[in-house]
Amino acid sequence: MATFALTVNGKTRQIDASPDMPLLWAIREQVGLTGTKFGCGAAHCGACTVHVDGKAVRSCNVSVREATGKRITTIEGLSDRTDHPVQKAWIEIDVPQCGYCQSGQIMSAAALLAEKPSPTDADIDRAMSGNICRCGTYVRIRAAIHRAAQVSKGGA
Ligand code: FES
Ligand code: FES
Repeated sequence: MATFALTVNGKTRQIDASPDMPLLWAIREQVGLTGTKFGCGAAHCGACTVHVDGKAVRSCNVSVREATGKRITTIEGLSDRTDHPVQKAWIEIDVPQCGYCQSGQIMSAAALLAEKPSPTDADIDRAMSGNICRCGTYVRIRAAIHRAAQVSKGGA
């Protein structure tokens, strides 16, 4: 066990953990933010996606040691009032079904748009391919990403 200082959603949190503890565990169990979900635990499903220094990463596959000193953003910190363009598009298009995969989907989509403000269908498919939805909401996810891109550029 050792003490680590994690910067989560702009706040520094001291946690006691093994250096190899997955960041997902620290976020959920120690920081107490449960919007980031556990799915496979093996970097296959994307349910645990957060941003580390602005990039979408699988938090089940990043250790506390690796995350220390980096900027971690979870779904709770994506926007102040659930008003990120991706979140607004998700509501407008009514994307979620059971919802379990959706915070990971939104974090991947937000990272994609930050890097590529006008993604093509192929860009979306590539960026989102690691996020599995057992409810099959993929068509609405793609539509919502296009909608968020449009709104971000000032479109009605
Ligand atoms: S729980 Fe991390 S990718 Fe599935
Ligand atoms: S909405 Fe149910 S798993 Fe994606």
